This record gives sequence, structure tokens and C-alpha cells, in this order.
Amino acid sequence: MTAAIKWTAPRIRALKGRQRIACLTAYDYPTARLLDDAGLPLALVGDSVGMAQLGYETTLPVTLEQMIHHTAAVARGARRALVVADLPFLTYQPSIADALRAAGRLVKEAGADAVKLEGGERYAETVRALIACGIPVMGHVGLLPQSVRALGGYRMQGRTEESAEQVRRDARALDEAGCFAIVLECIPAALAGEITRGVSAPTIGIGAGPDCDGQVLVVNDLLGLSGEKAPKFARRYAHLAATMLEAFRAYRADVEEGRFPAAETSGTTPNPS
Ligand code: KIV
Repeated sequence: MTAAIKWTAPRIRALKGRQRIACLTAYDYPTARLLDDAGLPLALVGDSVGMAQLGYETTLPVTLEQMIHHTAAVARGARRALVVADLPFLTYQPSIADALRAAGRLVKEAGADAVKLEGGERYAETVRALIACGIPVMGHVGLLPQSVRALGGYRMQGRTEESAEQVRRDARALDEAGCFAIVLECIPAALAGEITRGVSAPTIGIGAGPDCDGQVLVVNDLLGLSGEKAPKFARRYAHLAATMLEAFRAYRADVEEGRFPAAETSGTTPNPS
């Protein structure tokens, strides 16, 4: 059996201009295993876990402990994919020391390979400090979900010249600070293409059009588990909500009508999983 070659931040960075990068969020062990088996190089343990898995309305309540818990599960499942963990709200904004402590816990306790933080120019020094300590950083500009209260909602950014210029400056600052990749969220496709051509790090788009170096989707949206909440730009590749509902109903009916368990399989050895 050949050993799995682990993706590293420098290898991801080197994909720019050579291969488009497919990234998905993952929040648990089985999803990480499958993502890895499918050959995706990047698994993002996004703080979108708050909405996708924990039932929150925003990412704001997500704690560092929750991120450690989910990241550790993903890290156990991803043998090759690079595991990037989001720094949750208010774990890096107050100070560089806070950012180092929080990122350090995600790497040491949870097994993250890299961290992601939201924001540009304002966090360039934080990014430099993390990288100087040996922690690769993925940037995130455009729509910043942790700033939803200040933005007044989940709105496309970069529509006015002033806003577009801020997104350009943010992406440039993160590139110069050494981010190995930069997420561009919900900005016009033309702006995303221009930024992608102007920075040396690969850009990973979400709701930012086709001209980024890679794409990221929230796994629930791709699997059809988000219902009406899936954003318009997401593409659904499966309808798991319908499949699960059907399976749960069939199981319920079998139990209620005495078809499960079958007499011949009762009393057999439990499955170790
Ligand atoms: O939290 C998350 O899942 C993200 C992606 C949407 C980029 O930040």
C-alpha cells in the first residue's frame, strides 16, 4: 500500500496557475474521510459549523472549544487533505497574543494544519505573527460573516468603487503578509478575477464567480442538506435531505410494523463501528 502524501500549505500555494483548487467545508470525521477519498486537497473546518451543524443563526456564537472539537474530528479523517480551521469570532480580533494562543490550540490540540481568519489590512500584522510562529494562514476578504452585524446583513461586497478598492487593498495586504491562499467571498466576478490576477497566493472563491484559482462550498449546500437556506450561487450535487427523510420514515414504519429487527439477525455480534 502506498503512503498517503499530505497536502501542505506550500504545495497548495504552488497550485496557482497550474490546477484549480476544490475546497469543501467539513465538520466531522466521516465527511473528512470521504472528502479525502475523493481527492480534495483542502478541508475547511469553517465556523459555518455554527449554522450548518449547531443550529445557530450566525457564526458569532461559535466558540474556540467547539472549533477544537470539530477540527479534531476532521483531522482524524483527513489523511491527505490540508485541514484549515477557522479562528472563531473574538479569538483573534482583540490582540495578536490572543490570535497566537487560539491558533496554537487549534494546531496543538486539534491537529489543524493551518488557520483562517476574516479581514484584510487590519490583520496583516496578525497574519505575519502567526506565520512567524510556524502557523500557515488562509485569508478571507469580501463578505465577512463575523462582521454581519456591522455590515447589516449578508450582502455582496465590492459593488461601489470605494468598497471594491477596500477589498483590493485587503487582498494585497494578506498576500504581502504571506497567506498561502485567500478566500474571496461574495464579490463581483470581475473584481475577483482582477484580484486573482494581481496576487501571488491562490484565491478561493465563494459567490465570487469563475475566475478565482479555486472554489469552496459549504458541504451542507452541496449535499442538499440546507433546504431553503442554501445560497443561490451554491450548486447542489446530491439530495441527502430527501434520502435521509425517506430512510428515517422507512425505519420508523419497519419498527412500528414489526419488520425490524429480523429474527435471523437478532442476537448477532454488534458492529464495532
Ligand atoms: O465558515 C466557512 O465555512 C467559511 C467559508 C464559507 C469560506 O468561511
